[in-house]
Amino acid sequence: MTLPVAIAGLGSYLPANVVTNDDLAKEIETSDEWIRTRTGIRQRHVVAQDEATSDLAASASKAALADAGLGIEDISAIVVATTTPDHPVPGAAPLTAAALGTEVAAFDVNAACSGFIYGLRVGGAMAATGDGAVLVVGAETLTRVVDPQDRSVRVLFGDGAGAVVLVPDDTASLGPFDLGADGTNPSMLWTAAGGTRTPVTDVQLEERSNFLTMRGGDVYRNAVVRMTASAQAVLDRSGQTVDDVDLFVGHQANVRIIDAVGQRLHMPAERCHITVDRHANTSAASIPLALADARAAGRLEPGATVLLAAFGAGLTWGACLLTWNPTAGDRGANR
Ligand code: UT7
Repeated sequence: MTLPVAIAGLGSYLPANVVTNDDLAKEIETSDEWIRTRTGIRQRHVVAQDEATSDLAASASKAALADAGLGIEDISAIVVATTTPDHPVPGAAPLTAAALGTEVAAFDVNAACSGFIYGLRVGGAMAATGDGAVLVVGAETLTRVVDPQDRSVRVLFGDGAGAVVLVPDDTASLGPFDLGADGTNPSMLWTAAGGTRTPVTDVQLEERSNFLTMRGGDVYRNAVVRMTASAQAVLDRSGQTVDDVDLFVGHQANVRIIDAVGQRLHMPAERCHITVDRHANTSAASIPLALADARAAGRLEPGATVLLAAFGAGLTWGACLLTWNPTAGDRGANR
């Protein structure tokens, strides 16, 4: 099933502060060589002291609105995909809406690193069924939820946000989608304490279980299997093959995962867009950030068929196809 929905605008925001692998090696026992060879990451953007997720989401949203040639008054709902809201309660979306100056429906989607694809599915359905233009944002501040002393996790993550404006358009197609979740083994990638099962007390602070932890090898293997299967499922559902795909934008966690998924799909490496070297893993923000990066690099031509695939904590996974900007000429400001 595809949705009659087009992406009318795309925007992104990266905090100004860039932290290199060598910078981290001054604080924890790691090295540029280890990080680069294991993950492909060279640097990451890190929020300023006074920045949080809704600030990043609002900045990316403003850029997406400007790109679409629309104002906030044209938007009927805001979906923020995030696993790192400003506060445990409320979600980041109402705060983002307030920063943008609107009182429309605003809610978070928490599907970890797969969140942006889940957000496209939900926001796309709203746009297709009478809600008009919907902002879908992926925004994260992962550097605030990792243990600064835990080298196995700290080096992997960065902060940032990307946003799209979805508009109803009978000539466009968003999808098909494939979404899935397996919650039987959440400790593979989780924050053990700080929720309703294990509130934070001195014990958790002592154990440092209020920080994100991951069994990297297990996550890696699951990511490759699930992302490949999900991407293949949407290709099969659409009756298309890898040859029809102009650009593959996978969740940017580790360049080796993207390479392995690309190889299993028989996707030529030059059609796989990579940003993890510069952005590190920005969870739900990584795909819209990579789309914006691909367009800036001239890799996202109007009419291009784009395949998205992601995997994250939960476990969750998802993939979808979209046609890039098929009616750009009708929307003035859009490129
Ligand atoms: O976005 C959600 C999805 N997340 C992911 O997709 C991440 C998936 N996992 C991965 O990308 C990889 O598993 C990692 C990059 C996290 C780890 O790579 P790995 O090749 O699986 O390494 P490892 O965890 O097996 O660690 C190898 C060694 C260990 O030392 P010993 O036990 O072999 O002596 C670690 O202690 O590397 C050590 N190590 C480090 N050394 C230097 C772990 N982190 C670091 C570090 N610097 N930052």
